[in-house]
Amino acid sequence: MAFDRFGRNINYLRISLTDRCNLRCIYCMPEDMTFRPRSELLQDDEILRLVRLFTKIGFRKFRLTGGEPTVRANLVEIVQSMSATPGVDMIAMTTNGVLLDRMAGPLAEAGMRRVNISIDTLDADKFKKMTRWGKVEDVWRGIHAAEKAGLEIKLNAVVVRNYNDQEDLVDLARLTLYQPWQIRFIEMMPLGDVSDFQLAGSVTEPEMVKTIEHALGPLTPVNNGELDGEARLMSLEGARGRIGFISSVSHPFCASCNRTRLTADGRLRLCLLREKEVDLMTPLRSGATDDEMMDILKEGIWWKPWGHQLDQDVIPLNRVMSEIGG
Ligand code: 5AD
Ligand code: SF4
Repeated sequence: MAFDRFGRNINYLRISLTDRCNLRCIYCMPEDMTFRPRSELLQDDEILRLVRLFTKIGFRKFRLTGGEPTVRANLVEIVQSMSATPGVDMIAMTTNGVLLDRMAGPLAEAGMRRVNISIDTLDADKFKKMTRWGKVEDVWRGIHAAEKAGLEIKLNAVVVRNYNDQEDLVDLARLTLYQPWQIRFIEMMPLGDVSDFQLAGSVTEPEMVKTIEHALGPLTPVNNGELDGEARLMSLEGARGRIGFISSVSHPFCASCNRTRLTADGRLRLCLLREKEVDLMTPLRSGATDDEMMDILKEGIWWKPWGHQLDQDVIPLNRVMSEIGG
């Protein structure tokens, strides 16, 4: 098992499969974003080797992210090989849902269990405004395909002031009255060169709660307000689904953090909101043995940081979100 120096057992890996994306969400990347050349990204066999080594140090849960993981070539084959790896108990993915219509079935068959699908608003025009290139109908088709394929689904919405923080937020919350889904509202985090926009547009959990309660009545905490992963769950009266808040900015959940991240270019990113990373690509490509690689992983995890420093105006600038995968 892998522990850090604060005694946290780290057993959940989020793997960014690519920094590319078929959308250009305003809070994530500029429209003219440039991506890394493919030769700088981890190859399929390198990813699978790392997954195997992570299972050997006790990792059990794996989530594929991006950029947009469904634009990576061979995604289904990667999932298949991962699920055949002893020790891999759970494979999940965070996606914008645009390509799920055709990929949900094959992915579920390959062994994927859960998907978190991003949908910031139900309104077609606003969706376009927020994602620059997206069509909300595509995401809806993706959600339905994922349901049909038997995948467990959660929906994610990043809340941005003056874009989707009023009626859009309420419309999404209202879905939980009829659908047994978990809809999670995410406080926008500042990261990389879009951080000015992110800081200006960030909406805190208490503000979101107020807007939802004003329109739809009281929200009651689920499980005495205990965290479900990174989300605090609440429910509307008589609702079938749950509303979650992921409040990384206002209520960091560092004490229960069990995760680390692998960037598409082969770095171990120990905390989303801190710049500290460990280079895995260089040892991988210069012939390090499995034992040497496992030592590097364990040593990196030992030094996993605690806490962001946003309140001291320290913003991680070395990467944008699409390079880390949220
Ligand atoms: N803050 C919070 N969440 C973000 N995401 C992308 N950028 C940000 C940000 N700055 C979300 C995406 C997706 C997940 C991968 O991260 O919408 O749900
Ligand atoms: Fe793509 Fe997700 Fe970034 Fe939007 S937030 S541009 S869907 S990676």
